[in-house]
Amino acid sequence: MNKLDSTIGVKKIELLFAENIDFPSIDISQEKKSLIEKIRIKHLLWIPRLLFTRTYRALPKILKDIFFSLSIIHKSPASKMFARTRYDEFRILIDAKVSSMSLKAVPDHYVDVVKDTFNAGFYKTNLSDLSELDEIIEDVVNTTNPSHAGARPYFKDGKNEKIEGSYSAYYSFSKEYNQKMNKILQSDLTNDFNYHLSALAGYKCTFDDIIYSLSVVYGANSNDEMHQDTFSSVAKGFLYLQDIDSNNAPFEYLEGSYADAKFRSKETNRAVLENDSHSSGSTRLRGQKLQEALKKYKLQSFTGSKGLFVLANTAGYHRKGIHNSSKPRIILACGVKRKGVISKFLINLVAMVKFKFIQERN
Ligand SMILES: [Fe+2]
Repeated sequence: MNKLDSTIGVKKIELLFAENIDFPSIDISQEKKSLIEKIRIKHLLWIPRLLFTRTYRALPKILKDIFFSLSIIHKSPASKMFARTRYDEFRILIDAKVSSMSLKAVPDHYVDVVKDTFNAGFYKTNLSDLSELDEIIEDVVNTTNPSHAGARPYFKDGKNEKIEGSYSAYYSFSKEYNQKMNKILQSDLTNDFNYHLSALAGYKCTFDDIIYSLSVVYGANSNDEMHQDTFSSVAKGFLYLQDIDSNNAPFEYLEGSYADAKFRSKETNRAVLENDSHSSGSTRLRGQKLQEALKKYKLQSFTGSKGLFVLANTAGYHRKGIHNSSKPRIILACGVKRKGVISKFLINLVAMVKFKFIQERN
């Protein structure tokens, strides 16, 4: 039996990389079905969403800024007219206020630690038992074709220069595997986890809402640039499946940057006024501006052992750290659904009322 046949999961991916063997690719043509066969009820539910994004794309820039100001898809101001105002600063402040409502549904004995998470923009814990994961990973790699999930082999500076040796593959988990993962997590997480997750996402949610993908990256990619994902709070997670040191592309985060509406909006407005259309609204900090930000905020570089689980609000500045290793970096990337400010407000309001009602009854 050769070495490849006797290993599964993370070790197998490392071996495939070391021996330069292509990952399995799934022939989706085998599953050719007619359009009618492919359409399921859940797909019909996508129609309103599709209409929403189509309308957004078709609108002139100024109307986008007016009608989609609090929507999660409107990452940065579209028009220069609004980029010259405090429009982005105000909506970041509104989002921070609405997101902080999630803290009002936290039991007293957790309030201080969850507030710390909200202010810092991240939370970390360690999972001790990942023994069931390798089988899931093996199956996901063998049955799914990967996507790049936004990690591109060039920097988003408009120069479009290819980064040599850059590799990134993201394998989405099926509903069934997400449920399995949630079960694994449930056994290892402490009771306050959902409060930390909600504080970072900006709305009341639980670990059951998390969806996963397996991320295999090698070398540099567009996520190496320090950036914010959007103006409004978003929770993303990174579960390390290997020991990650400073050469192994650790997740990096500028602590407290989410709440700095003045700085973030100034940098975003500058990008819009300088015609930065390459970052798709996820504006970047480069050169002198990056140096200033590194002085202003503490850089958290999350190195650690297999099992380290970092959650972050990626509306704050973050990046993939440098990769200078012969092994690819293999992690489970995860997150909850992104919500606009109005949805967050309604969800948090209901959570607050429920929380108050339960408290009064006790
Ligand atoms: Fe990002």
